[in-house]
Amino acid sequence: MRRQIGETGRVLFPPAGLTVAPRFRASTPPLTDARSRLPPRRRARQQPPRVPRSASLACRASSSFLADVEQAPPDPILGVSVAFRESTNPNKLNLGVGAYRTEDLQPYVLDVVKQAERRMLEADYDKEYLPMQGLAAFNQATARLLLGDDSDAIADERVATVQSLSGTGSLRVGAAFIAKFMPGAKVFLPSPTWGNHKNIFADAGVEWDEYAYYDAETIGLDLEGMLEAISSAPEGSVFVLHGCAHNPTGVDPTMEEWEKIADAMARKSHVPFFDVAYQGFASGSLEEDAASVRLFAKKGIEFFCAQSYSKNLGLYAERVGAINAVLADSASAKKTVSQMNRIARAMYSNPPVHGARIAATVIEDPVLFERWNEEMREMAGRIKTVRGMLFDDLTKLNPDKDWSFVTRQIGMFSFTGLSEAQVKRMTDEHAIFMTKDGRVSLAGLSQAKCAYLANAIDDSFKNA
Ligand SMILES: Cc1ncc(COP(=O)(O)O)c(C=O)c1O
Repeated sequence: MRRQIGETGRVLFPPAGLTVAPRFRASTPPLTDARSRLPPRRRARQQPPRVPRSASLACRASSSFLADVEQAPPDPILGVSVAFRESTNPNKLNLGVGAYRTEDLQPYVLDVVKQAERRMLEADYDKEYLPMQGLAAFNQATARLLLGDDSDAIADERVATVQSLSGTGSLRVGAAFIAKFMPGAKVFLPSPTWGNHKNIFADAGVEWDEYAYYDAETIGLDLEGMLEAISSAPEGSVFVLHGCAHNPTGVDPTMEEWEKIADAMARKSHVPFFDVAYQGFASGSLEEDAASVRLFAKKGIEFFCAQSYSKNLGLYAERVGAINAVLADSASAKKTVSQMNRIARAMYSNPPVHGARIAATVIEDPVLFERWNEEMREMAGRIKTVRGMLFDDLTKLNPDKDWSFVTRQIGMFSFTGLSEAQVKRMTDEHAIFMTKDGRVSLAGLSQAKCAYLANAIDDSFKNA
């Protein structure tokens, strides 16, 4: 299905004979403030806070003109780390944020990152501004890593890639692009999903809803519910898909299920928006973890994809990532890059260079690339080991309960099924800090702490 985006911001439609989503026909209203298209309740939530009338210069001395600004609630994920730091319990364990830790529960800087930085220092690079699109070498490398060396889309120059501020910033640029050039398109997020997805699309003024993804009874994928949501959503909707290692559930579709999902999307001319934050981390293989995205590309489905190098290269603070659009033709890709550049220009002008140079150096150099793969296998392997140990410890404590979900789930997280009250007991009684949805980051667990965690989980299930 070809979809072209006009200079005016309208999505133009294509070849006769193909089904066209009514909202994208030429009668689509001209681009307006995306907020005005939201239902009244959501629109109200998105209004900027009102500055009180009394906020004149004259009264500033006694109270700030921002005195009526409401305190924002703590972030559900980052807030966990704050609470962890404040705890004085010697047994405390931070399983909230998805950041890799060594067996000693220390942050890990990859060996390849250190090697690349040494080379960069020797090369004596300058610190000039990058172009809005980012570092060209990085953009080429990241698209190739995602789509494969043999990608037709890359060969045909049908991929629009813009370096952005890690996964979050890349999603945000994509969301702004949707708000501007796909007016009226609704974004569907899996239920549950990474909490920040909702903030990102809402702040961009894009209306979002949820689709069935996780089946709490089977602790697996609700494929039927997902396919039903895909077929009943308005044509041309955007579906956010976690490319691998679904956060928070750790439940991914099998390749057969991805096939069904892709075909269902194509039938409704939906636009998938992949979020790939864990390539290489789920299985330890960059190739395997990109299989879902590559399947959609092979089928000729157009899609967006946000990439992050926070986890797989451990570049959390460097903010390295990209937003890609894989499209039907190179002219559309070129125009899309130009408009994404405009969005970036107004948001942050151009992205940071240091981390992008590291990533490009590691991906392009065969020796570093091999070493990186080795380190990723080690990191993914360590997580698999603690998964296995946690499963054994839980089974020993309560053999009557089926704990197999712990080893079936993929990636950094385990979605335990603990209720909010049980999570509270985990923190209050055992000093285990985790998100309220029952997710634990196994990347923050050591072998030495497996039995402690198992005991806390078993106790909380039984006594809260
Ligand atoms: C699903 C998902 N998407 C995107 C991100 C973005 O992370 P970052 O902005 O650090 O790349 C994360 C991080 O936890 C994530 O879990």
